[in-house]
Amino acid sequence: MSSLLRGKDFITTQEFTKEEIDLMLDTSFDLKRKFATGEPHPLLAYKTVFMIFYDESTRTRNSIEAGITQLGGHGNFLSPDKMQAHHGETVADTAKVLSRFGHAIAVRHCQFGVGNKYLRGLAENSDIPVLNLQDDIYHPMQVLADLMTIQERFGKDLRHLKVGISWAYAESHLKPLSVPQSQILLFTRYGMDVTLAYPEGFDLMPDIVKQAKENAEKSGGKLEITHSMDEAFVDADVVIPKSWGGFFTIENPMEAEQHKDEIMQKVRQHKDWKCDERRMGLTKRNSVYMHALPADRGREVVDSVIDGPHSIVFDEAENRLHTAKAVMVLTMGGRP
Ligand code: CP
Repeated sequence: MSSLLRGKDFITTQEFTKEEIDLMLDTSFDLKRKFATGEPHPLLAYKTVFMIFYDESTRTRNSIEAGITQLGGHGNFLSPDKMQAHHGETVADTAKVLSRFGHAIAVRHCQFGVGNKYLRGLAENSDIPVLNLQDDIYHPMQVLADLMTIQERFGKDLRHLKVGISWAYAESHLKPLSVPQSQILLFTRYGMDVTLAYPEGFDLMPDIVKQAKENAEKSGGKLEITHSMDEAFVDADVVIPKSWGGFFTIENPMEAEQHKDEIMQKVRQHKDWKCDERRMGLTKRNSVYMHALPADRGREVVDSVIDGPHSIVFDEAENRLHTAKAVMVLTMGGRP
């Protein structure tokens, strides 16, 4: 394993070896300790990360912005209406210019069929790392924090840990597929036994599911798919119920933007896909409830679960800071 991830894009965990992901996690634990003890760690002094947000964010923006500040650098917040992207500047030109000014370009762009292509376009034309802050396919920053949080609870050997990832009903918006997709891709590499549950039609991208199954085969883990939410909860150590848009419930998923109302009608047919006390009762006694947040309270999950003894959502959210810092240190820093 090379310890030098300097200059690498961070678009999906699939493009990193397991040893490299372990290095990111070790670095995250180290930075968490430094943060807790107040030990200064200006590992990216005077460095700039450009943060381009096409979509709203609480955790991602603030973990990157607070994180780069704590590392001695600066985060420059950008949105398309504040850039010439709004007037048609090409992705290539944006990438080339920002490469001359700073040390990484971090981007959130979740539009289905558009976001990941935009990031790949930036990466092809950038001399500095492109960091994915969530696109339509992947949310690698989130899943790294999820894995760190699971390791804190269950230790480093996660083989045959039973994880239920389930679709859940929400009204807030059509959430991207990127969180569950990143979870099935990464958890299967650590030998976990993953059950993925969703109502018929609410599929994830077939190629992602295929890759996750291959990952499970290599690691000795499992990826099983069911259309019963209860099945994902039975005997689970970890449950992660969360909504995602039913992009594959319409004929052409690339036209999801124009069919939002139609998709939402299909979402409303599954209001019973909710994480409640009865379902938590199906899990193991010491199970944990996780959610990337924001949660659609009262719909995806009842308050007594998300605020209850199984919930580790705020540890999970805090770990967004430490993992984001680790990714920045390893890709933007390195050898003095
Ligand atoms: N989980 C997550 O990415 O949160 P934000 O959308 O608030 O960034």
